[in-house]
Amino acid sequence: KNSAAKYVPDSRDLSVLTDAVQECRGCDLYRNATQAVFGMRDAGPGDVAGVELMMVGEQPGDQEDKQGRPFVGPAGKLLDECLEEAGIDRSQVYVTNAVKHFKWEPRGKIRLHKKPGVREIRACNPWLQAEIQAVEPRLIVCLGSSAAQALLGAQFRVTQSRGVLQHAAGLPPLLATIHPSAILRARTHEDRERERRAFIEDLRQAESILR
Ligand code: URA
Ligand code: SF4
Repeated sequence: KNSAAKYVPDSRDLSVLTDAVQECRGCDLYRNATQAVFGMRDAGPGDVAGVELMMVGEQPGDQEDKQGRPFVGPAGKLLDECLEEAGIDRSQVYVTNAVKHFKWEPRGKIRLHKKPGVREIRACNPWLQAEIQAVEPRLIVCLGSSAAQALLGAQFRVTQSRGVLQHAAGLPPLLATIHPSAILRARTHEDRERERRAFIEDLRQAESILR
């Protein structure tokens, strides 16, 4: 059965976890990825003293896979802009993903993002739980349905419950919102602007919970 469990060390030191994830063979996704991308704050792995907010995305994208850092590609750039508009300092946020290896398929010359399945999200969950235990955030923001599924279960619907504080056993309070990629995919300028404003509103909500 696919699971990262036996690859996750007992230590809750983030530098130890960050090294160990590179050896994970908990599902097949490591095979076609450059490296595992663990969570971190901007400054780099290790120091999370004083971090109150954790954000969980889906999985690394093309850029993240190459650079080994979460949310550094187009979705990350948009996330940075929206965080700033919501008055959240990204350097204080621990950013990670539900799945640590990039899942893709070749489409001509590009590596096209493929949505991770329930089994991969479940297999990778021990890493996410270890990060939550290591960081001990006051609030977790789930970006999109994969992250919400990882922490709130498959029945959770982001569209119905976005921006509403959630309580789940054994976890800090959580808030779910859309994934910034959904804003990038919006077809018209109007749609994009509306999605962007609603996203920033959810981030402001997170900020006000922490205040
Ligand atoms: N999308 C994600 O969900 N995570 C990343 O790190 C980058 C893009
Ligand atoms: Fe391990 Fe997660 Fe990578 Fe699968 S995606 S190999 S479970 S780190």
